[in-house]
Amino acid sequence: MKETISQVLFSAEQIHKRVEELGAQITQDYKGKEPLIVVVLKGSTIFAADLIRAIGLPIRLDFISTSSYGNSTESSGVVKILKDVEESLEGKDVIIIEDIVDTGLTLTYLVRTLQLRNPASLKVCSLLDKPSRRKPESTVKVDYLGYSIDDHFVVGYGLDYASRHRNLPYVGVLKLEQ
Ligand code: PRP
Repeated sequence: MKETISQVLFSAEQIHKRVEELGAQITQDYKGKEPLIVVVLKGSTIFAADLIRAIGLPIRLDFISTSSYGNSTESSGVVKILKDVEESLEGKDVIIIEDIVDTGLTLTYLVRTLQLRNPASLKVCSLLDKPSRRKPESTVKVDYLGYSIDDHFVVGYGLDYASRHRNLPYVGVLKLEQ
C-alpha cells in the first residue's frame, strides 16, 4: 500500500501560531497556579512539547499511556492504562493533553478515572477534534481546542498511521493507494 499526503491541513507555521494562542490562553486562565500537564502518549508528545513552552507559568509534567481494544482504526471504549502518571493528582490543577479526540471514549474514560483522584480541577486540551465521529456514550468536553476537523484520516505533528508519519512538521490527510 502506497501512503501519500493528499492535502496539508495545517502547516507548521499555522500550528505554531495556534499553539502560541492556546499557551497564552492557558497562561491567563491559570495565573498564580502551577498546572500539572498530563500528556497522553504517544501522539500528543509533539504538541505537548511545543505547548508547554508556550505556557508562561511554572508547570509540572507527567505522562500516561492508554490502549483501547477492538479493531485498530476505531476505539472500542474499553480503555486500559498501560502506564500511569507518577504524580499524585490530589489538589492539583490538571490539564490532560491529547492530539486528537475521535469517538471521545479514551478521554471519557481518562477524565472519569483521573477525577476519582481528587484534583482541584481537571481540564482537557486537544490539538484536533473530530466532532462528527463522537459516540453517544462520550461525555468529553474539550476546554482548549486547536482545530475542529472533518472526518479525514490525519497524520503528522505526532499523529501516526501504523506508527509512521509522526515526525511530519505539519498535519496532513493520508491517502492509501494500492
Ligand atoms: C489516539 C489519540 C487518543 C485516541 C482518541 O490515540 O491520541 O488517545 O486515539 O480516540 P478516541 O476519541 O476514539 O478514543 P492512539 O490510540 O492512536 O495512540 P497513539 O497516541 O499512541 O498513536
